[in-house]
Amino acid sequence: MNTSYLQVERSVPLQGKAELVGAKNAVLVIMASLLLTRGKSRLSNVPRSADVIHMILLLRQLGAEVSFFAEEHVLEVDTTQVNKWQVSPDSMKKMRASILVMGPLLARFGYADIALPGGCVIGARPIDYHLKNFVKMGVEIRENGDFLYARASTLKPTRLVLEYPSVGATENLLMAAVLTSGVTYIVNAALEPEVLDLIVVLKKMGAKITITPPAVIEIEGVHELQSIEHAILADRLEAGTLLIATAATGGYIDLPQAPAHAMEVFLLKLEEMGHKVEVGPYGVGVRLHATDKPRAVSFKTSPYPGFPTDLQAPMMALQCTAQGKSVVHETVFENRLLHVRELQKMGAQITVEHNTATITGVDELYGASVIATDIRASCALVIAGLMAKGTTTMTGIHHWKRGYDALEEKLAQLGAHIIVREVEEENVQSSYVVEETEKQIRV
Ligand code: EPZ
Repeated sequence: MNTSYLQVERSVPLQGKAELVGAKNAVLVIMASLLLTRGKSRLSNVPRSADVIHMILLLRQLGAEVSFFAEEHVLEVDTTQVNKWQVSPDSMKKMRASILVMGPLLARFGYADIALPGGCVIGARPIDYHLKNFVKMGVEIRENGDFLYARASTLKPTRLVLEYPSVGATENLLMAAVLTSGVTYIVNAALEPEVLDLIVVLKKMGAKITITPPAVIEIEGVHELQSIEHAILADRLEAGTLLIATAATGGYIDLPQAPAHAMEVFLLKLEEMGHKVEVGPYGVGVRLHATDKPRAVSFKTSPYPGFPTDLQAPMMALQCTAQGKSVVHETVFENRLLHVRELQKMGAQITVEHNTATITGVDELYGASVIATDIRASCALVIAGLMAKGTTTMTGIHHWKRGYDALEEKLAQLGAHIIVREVEEENVQSSYVVEETEKQIRV
């Protein structure tokens, strides 16, 4: 049972400069890609989040030696002794991104025994695009209850067509193809910034990859790949959350590492609200001066370079006190509006029809006890808490900790009154999952 919660007070205008950590949705897949090499790699700018710890434990289960220097955000992974290809139900349950070891395991061993990833609150999260394309590459897949047993004597170079630009399917297939002799194509591939950061890493390893417009990835297989050093791409989602928090409180922020080039539609929407957005040279760095009369804006989520689904919830929270009406259409996941109910508890005027929410701006939100239902919903509730009159307490804090590296501390340094509260309950270990699991992996 969760013994901690976030407490948020209405905030003064946030002011200042903040550093960004590496993107969760880049570091997890890049950690998985290290299984394609036999040697010691070094990743920097690694966020100290629960999901990173879960991926560390998974790599160790497969035989990798992993050292995480959390304070320095440095991860060293030696995959020389990796000798297993089974992913346990516990690993898969804890983190869906565990499915991303399937491609590397098939490429390295020709085997992958994977527990089926469950769905989650935002959707069923099927993996059919992954599986049917692995079959096209020559993989035999047998299902038995909650397990998938995948076998491939040799992977075949194939023209793979994705009916939807799935991020995970693109990444899994890409990692299987880089060691597959011949030329493999992935048509209608996802080209999110995090996918592109994976491609940078694979090319550093020695992979031969080209991207041809509009979205075809061409991979010429090589015989082996080398270990690498890499600094993880700055997290556009952490940047987006900090920008929204600043806009919500009428403040000013400078994010020198923000990858503005990877979030242009989102930045456009902030400008349409009346906030002043300045982008640094070469598309790196963002400064925001908030307006005191924000106008409501409408937006629709879509695959990159459209408005990112992972910023939909916090951006919706920002609309709750903007002037006018905002229509938010979620097109990527079938059930990613669960934060609406919690925002309504705080006085937000929102109606929902199918996957579209209509928000009518109100003068004031009120602090309440709310529950985070997924990583990005937790962001939305923190943003609303910064705007709301009174105190907001948010449970479901494990979602917040899964996706971010002490983001509450960054917000506090900018002036927010936000703190993690531990609730001492009899006979309950009040353990913060990262600290507990870090004890298991401390170097
Ligand atoms: C990645 O999830 C991210 N996770 C998600 O971030 C992100 O929201 C999503 O991409 C979209 O950008 C990681 O990178 C670890 P998809 P992924 O495959 O790969 C359907 C966060 O909060 N689909 O692009 O699972 C799927 O159900 C998380 O950080 C199939 O139908 O996303 C969804 O509706 C949430 N069959 C849509 O496609 C498949 O085989 C997009 O999914 C695969 C996906």
